Amino acid sequence: MTAPPVRRLFSRRLTRTLLTPHPVEHYVRSLGVDWSDDPTGATVVAVDRPVRDVTVLTLRLPAGVDRPAPGAALEIGVVVDGVVHRRHYSPVDPASRRDGLATIAVRRHPDGVVSNHLWDRAEPGMRLLLGNPVGEMALTEARPADVLLVSGGSGITPMLAIASTLAADGHCTGTGTGTGTAPGRVAWLHYVRRVQDAPFRDQLRDLARAGVSVRVIPTAEGTTPDGLAGHLTPDHLEAAAPWHRDAAVFLCGPEPLARGLEEALGAERFSGVLRERFTSATGPVPDGDGGTVTHLRSGVTARNEGTTLLEGAEAAGLSPQHGCRMGICHTCTAVRVSGATRDLRTGEIDSTPDCHVQICINAPVGDVEIEL
Ligand code: FES
Repeated sequence: MTAPPVRRLFSRRLTRTLLTPHPVEHYVRSLGVDWSDDPTGATVVAVDRPVRDVTVLTLRLPAGVDRPAPGAALEIGVVVDGVVHRRHYSPVDPASRRDGLATIAVRRHPDGVVSNHLWDRAEPGMRLLLGNPVGEMALTEARPADVLLVSGGSGITPMLAIASTLAADGHCTGTGTGTGTAPGRVAWLHYVRRVQDAPFRDQLRDLARAGVSVRVIPTAEGTTPDGLAGHLTPDHLEAAAPWHRDAAVFLCGPEPLARGLEEALGAERFSGVLRERFTSATGPVPDGDGGTVTHLRSGVTARNEGTTLLEGAEAAGLSPQHGCRMGICHTCTAVRVSGATRDLRTGEIDSTPDCHVQICINAPVGDVEIEL
């Protein structure tokens, strides 16, 4: 076969592609390369569906890629109908796992493109794209002595990584680092609708044997052996961890669980909780906000009246890189060169020049120039 002339390879379309910043899968698709051959991706080596609506995947990570710190998440890209969807999943493994594998669990949601795809289609050999580790919550090398874990639903996964790391370190038996001669205490309250909905029940039993005080608390039916049930209350904390006032507290779960913990701890104490969010609560764009947004890289200028910079860019025909669309993953971060934007989670306005902003949760307040 004769090689095509170089000038045909470097067509105008390809040149434009190479000169415009995009996520890696964009180049891969544009160049006609099968993304599943991407050596930086992960391979599914085992699939389990231990309880209804939960897919557990064991991934082989590429050489040189480590699991994130216990509690933090991996960014995973899943291709569904030719479109890459990015999500974040926390591996459940202890930091001591050394075989190059990582286990994640994906709970299926009724409208979840990725969770339904994996529930229906995941099988050994499936290839996934990998991004950078992300997360606001992780167990540090300097271990706190006493640890309280609070989770709900899918929040079980980062907590499993933290609890199993501490257990493997001998933290609860007094042989771990950071605990001196006295054992550190670890208590874990995990909330589910029904106990049988919780995956990883064998691992939870192993943790209890290693000294972690684990309670799986049903919110819809049944009780724990010591009579705890329903949503989190101060009584739950007192029963499970009467020493919790001096503990490091980790939280991963839905907003009602976070509100329950805030009420139980008080606002000041809650502000110190290490937290991984499921969602970010954003308020509406106030009347009067909005402006003309100049997207400097693409040369597109558009009016934005009351929506996020991401939605405004999409309405103007652009396709900015994004993941969660809720302020968690930072995939959408872009440089605001000038102008002011409002963070829709806090309502705060910032106008620092050349500042990185998450365009999915920021809206313009007046005219804005942004690197998109
Ligand atoms: S898309 Fe995840 S933070 Fe914006």
